[in-house]
Amino acid sequence: MKSTLVCITILCILIKQNEATELCPSSQIRCMDENRLNCNSSLLSPTDFQCCDGLQCVSAVMPRTDTQEQFNTTMCVPSSSKQYNTKINIPPAKLPPIMASSWSAATTYYNMSNGDTGWGYFWYDASHQAIRTDFYPTCPFLQLYEAGVDANYIPCSVLFYEGQNYYVYPSAQTCCNYTFPAWQPNWLCQSNATYNGTLSIDGQMADFWMVEWFSNYTGEGSVHNLRNMYTRADSHVPLRFREDLDTGYLDFHDYVEGPIDQTIFTSTIDAYGPCHQGHGHAGTDDKTCTRYNSQTLRRSWPCDNPTCS
Ligand SMILES: *[C@@H]1O[C@H](CO)[C@@H](O)[C@H](O)[C@H]1NC(C)=O
Ligand SMILES: *[C@@H]1O[C@H](CO)[C@@H](O)[C@H](O)[C@H]1NC(C)=O
Ligand SMILES: *[C@@H]1O[C@H](CO)[C@@H](O)[C@H](O)[C@H]1NC(C)=O
Ligand SMILES: *[C@@H]1O[C@H](CO)[C@@H](O)[C@H](O)[C@H]1NC(C)=O
Ligand SMILES: *[C@@H]1O[C@H](CO)[C@@H](O)[C@H](O)[C@H]1NC(C)=O
Ligand SMILES: *[C@@H]1O[C@H](CO)[C@@H](O)[C@H](O)[C@H]1NC(C)=O
Ligand SMILES: *[C@@H]1O[C@H](CO)[C@@H](O)[C@H](O)[C@H]1NC(C)=O
Repeated sequence: MKSTLVCITILCILIKQNEATELCPSSQIRCMDENRLNCNSSLLSPTDFQCCDGLQCVSAVMPRTDTQEQFNTTMCVPSSSKQYNTKINIPPAKLPPIMASSWSAATTYYNMSNGDTGWGYFWYDASHQAIRTDFYPTCPFLQLYEAGVDANYIPCSVLFYEGQNYYVYPSAQTCCNYTFPAWQPNWLCQSNATYNGTLSIDGQMADFWMVEWFSNYTGEGSVHNLRNMYTRADSHVPLRFREDLDTGYLDFHDYVEGPIDQTIFTSTIDAYGPCHQGHGHAGTDDKTCTRYNSQTLRRSWPCDNPTCS
């Protein structure tokens, strides 16, 4: 009798956990847009691996850079033939989860280019359109302009708040202000993330949600961009986020859900305000901050415009 009760309780807990993981709608076909990488030209591949209508999947070589190895892959490009392939609708093996609307976690940072590690903390609250990520001992972004590139290798907080994107460098008492929206909890749906199987992260099984694309706007050659997310298998608990921060990734530990006090976001911004706009903004000659948002690559610094011309 007792063991039956225990079993039912465990079952209820399991069902509850499953209920808590809301998934992207299965009615929306997710396909790969132009410039997405790692597509599969087979008509028998799941739709999230196939290029969207009007595009074709061709092989592509990303040349080596100082922070990325050469990468031979495939890419979605505009189709030369106007003929549409009749697709067999093979659904992805798994649908991406919708993330929690507010959560926080401790982070560790790993730089795959040189093995350096860092640490910090992460807060997210969709109700304030807000994200804060603290990076120690060095900031992966290079937003300080006038002080020179080497001045950037200090701690920073990267914030998204009500449509703006701030980089706060407490030890330099400087805050940079750009316009960029925060994620929505359904960003894996919106970005058509591709399910690329499971892998083990620190002994936990993780679902791998792949969002990788090609861009060429630094004018320094093509760049392989990543925004890959790893969630605990069949859940929305984030374990790893891999963005193109010099080919590094952030691991999340001690994940907690629940509303975040607004001052977590506002106090950091207010402490070092007024924040500087990216230089050249609205005709000012304030050169404190780089002109462009989210600069990470030293080799393209201080690239002043998207084509470096
Ligand atoms: C492409 O999809 C087909 C059919 O699912 C599969 O057999 C093949 O291994 C896939 N190719 C790659 C490179 O993943
Ligand atoms: C990529 O393909 C090129 C030929 O197109 C080849 O020379 C090179 O060794 C390949 N690189 C890797 C990492 O597989
Ligand atoms: C990661 O390593 C590369 C190569 O040493 C370096 O250029 C880059 O600044 C490092 N990134 C961070 C965030 O420290
Ligand atoms: C996602 O896929 C849809 C087609 O279902 C496409 O129209 C849209 O552009 C894609 N979005 C992104 C961000 O790739
Ligand atoms: C996707 O998963 C396959 C099989 O695990 C792996 O070989 C491939 O490298 C993964 N793709 C990417 C872009 O990491
Ligand atoms: C990337 O940009 C450079 C210079 O702007 C151009 O010469 C090159 O063809 C572009 N590469 C691709 C693959 O579009
Ligand atoms: C950042 O800039 C926007 C307009 O571009 C402005 O509305 C906002 O008040 C600025 N924030 C701070 C903290 O200076």
